[in-house]
Amino acid sequence: MRVDIVTLFPEAFEGFLATSFVARGIEAQKLGVRFRSPREFGLGKHKSVDDTPYGGGSGMVMRVDVLVACFESLDLDAPDGVKAHRVLLTPQGAPLDQSRVRALAARPAVMLVCGRYEGFDERVRAHVDEEISLGDFVMTGGEVAAMAIVDACVRLLPGVLGNEESVREESHSTENEGLLEYPQYTRPAEFRGADVPAILTGGHHAHIAAWRREQAVVRTRERRPDLYERYAARTAASGAAGVRTRGRGGRAGGSGNAGNAGGAGNSESAGSSGNAGGAGSSGNAGSAGNSESAGSSGNGGGAGSSGNGGGAGNSESAGSSGNGGGAGSSGNGGGAGSSGNGGGAGNSESAGSSGNAGGAGNSGNAGGAGSSENTGSAGHSGKDE
Ligand SMILES: C[S@@+](CC[C@H](N)C(=O)[O-])C[C@H]1O[C@@H](n2cnc3c(N)ncnc32)[C@H](O)[C@@H]1O
Repeated sequence: MRVDIVTLFPEAFEGFLATSFVARGIEAQKLGVRFRSPREFGLGKHKSVDDTPYGGGSGMVMRVDVLVACFESLDLDAPDGVKAHRVLLTPQGAPLDQSRVRALAARPAVMLVCGRYEGFDERVRAHVDEEISLGDFVMTGGEVAAMAIVDACVRLLPGVLGNEESVREESHSTENEGLLEYPQYTRPAEFRGADVPAILTGGHHAHIAAWRREQAVVRTRERRPDLYERYAARTAASGAAGVRTRGRGGRAGGSGNAGNAGGAGNSESAGSSGNAGGAGSSGNAGSAGNSESAGSSGNGGGAGSSGNGGGAGNSESAGSSGNGGGAGSSGNGGGAGSSGNGGGAGNSESAGSSGNAGGAGNSGNAGGAGSSENTGSAGHSGKDE
């Protein structure tokens, strides 16, 4: 990948380009960086690149003629004649996210245009392919945004990171279905009373994988409901598809008014039957999703009026049967699933035996048979905690 950086301050990149994976990418010739300053095309004795805004107002605006001359000169001497995809860095652009990073990293050449002062003459926009913002805040220049993009792209270039696995499993990755990463721990096993979860030191890979998956879902829902909603919608859609394509006895729940019915989708992957609950009025019904990954039957709870009903989620990953509770009126009902704050038969099934957990009542976050089942016995619970 080649990056052409249009900036008045190329020196700002010195330490950045000489550090860590960016330096390694350049060294390995996976990443090439060219700089060009608009100053080279500036006007008059002072090589001016900006001017006062028409109509008055504070500050200076970067000139379109100077900037476009700079862009075109980069195109003219582009290595192998490969012209770069032009990106204007501006707080008015589309927010940068991992899918945009992936798209940029897949391009052979990208031009990053760093503004200064009060920004760009509006007519510059007609000469770029895309506008990107680092977020809803304003910096003094585009250089930090350019560094963020280069840094995020370089770790996606094959051969730069060394461990491609870590790119696949982390937050926002496609393979992780857009979820945040599960919690990570390293030594010491105990720090000031905070222990590493016992499941991680138990050595049972399937249990660890199920726990991590569950934690990723819970964490995403708690911290980033926006990402969680997208994930839930995708899961529901792919679940329904799963029923159609594999269809070993799984029944998707029906949808009430506006909800996304849980599908029995992934439940078919290795198991037998999975009956997902249906959605009530506006929630996302839990699906019998991962519940079947190694188990037998799992019946996901349905969502009541507005919550996200728990499904039989990860509960079945190593267990036998689990009937997840449904969500009541407004909470995120516990199910047996990976996604509920609520109890349910969730964790309970990870250690094997069956648990019929209660669902959440009116307020969500219901306790269920959850942790008690980690020890392998059955737990029956049907109340809020
Ligand atoms: C002070 S800002 C100009 C802001 C502009 N007056 C506006 O309100 O949109 C100067 C330059 O910093 C860069 N910049 C500032 N905030 C940014 C952000 N959130 N994302 C990307 N670039 C940003 C842009 O290149 C911008 O042209």
